Amino acid sequence: MKHLTTLSLDKSSIETILDNAARFKTELVISSKIGGRSLALCFFENSTRTRLSFELAAKKLGMLVIDLAPEHSSLSKGETIFDTLKTIESLGIDCAIIRCTENNLLDSFDDSLKIPIISGGQGIDDHPTQALLDAFTIKEIAIRSGKPLNELELCLVGDIKHSRVATSNIKVLSDLGVQLSICAPNQFRRSFDNDNIVYYDTLEEAADNSDILMALRIQKERLLESSTDILSAESIISEYRINHRLLESYKKLYIMHPGPINWGVELENGLQNHPRLLANRQVANGVFVRMATLEYFLSNQ
Ligand code: CP
Repeated sequence: MKHLTTLSLDKSSIETILDNAARFKTELVISSKIGGRSLALCFFENSTRTRLSFELAAKKLGMLVIDLAPEHSSLSKGETIFDTLKTIESLGIDCAIIRCTENNLLDSFDDSLKIPIISGGQGIDDHPTQALLDAFTIKEIAIRSGKPLNELELCLVGDIKHSRVATSNIKVLSDLGVQLSICAPNQFRRSFDNDNIVYYDTLEEAADNSDILMALRIQKERLLESSTDILSAESIISEYRINHRLLESYKKLYIMHPGPINWGVELENGLQNHPRLLANRQVANGVFVRMATLEYFLSNQ
C-alpha cells in the first residue's frame, strides 16, 4: 500500500495499526522507528483535530513537522495540488498528510508520487484515520462491555449523505465485523456497497437495537442549500437529536461523534460532560492511532 485512502486499507493493515496504537497508548517511553523523518501537513480545508493530532503524533515520534500553510503557498499563484506535493517530495520530505475537498484525489496520484500521501479527509468519501480512531475507541468499549466486536451494533445517525466519516467507518467497521445501521431522514441517506446495513426510521428504533449511536455533523459547508437539504437539517434537530431523555431511557447506550459538534443540533446542549459521550475519548485516541499510522507507512521506507 502506497498512499492511505479508505479503500487502500485492508483488514490486516487495519488490525496492525490498531494493535500498534494500543501499544503507543500504554507505552511509558515511546519507542520510535521513524525519529528524524519529516512530515508535511497540507490542509487545503480547515481542521482542528486531524491537523493537531497528526502534528502531535509526529512530534511524539521524534519527527520533523512542516506546515504548508496553503494560504501562504504558491497555490495562490495557480500551482496545482499535485505540483505542490511533487515539490514537497523534491525537498526530501518523507510523507504528507493532505486534507482537501476533492473526492478520490489521492487515487489519481498512483505511483507518480514516491512518498506516501495520507488522507486527512478528502471530499465526502474518505477520512481513513478518523475511521481507524473510531474503530480503536469501539474496541475499547467492546472490551468494557464484555462483547466481541462482531456482537456490537453501531448506528450512524444524521447527515450520512455529506459525511466522509460515514463512508470510511462503514468500510473499516464492517471489515472488523461490527454490525452497522443507519438512522437518517430519507434525503440524508445514501446507498453503500454493503447489503448488511440496516436502516431505521426513528431514533428510538435505533437505540433499541444499538450499543453505540454515532452522531454525524450536519455538513453546512457541503449542503447544496436545496429545500430538501434544509428540511432534512431541520428534521435532524426535531427527530434525530440525541438528548438527555434518550440516554436516561437507554442506560447502556454510548454516543460517539467525530467532531466538531453542532451543539443543539446533533446533540442536546448540556450533554458535554455525559459519561457515555465518547467524543473526547475519540480525540485522545486519535493521537495514538495517528502515531501507529505514521509508523506503518514510514518504517519500511
Ligand atoms: N473529526 C475531524 O476530522 O475533525 P477536524 O475537522 O477538526 O479535523
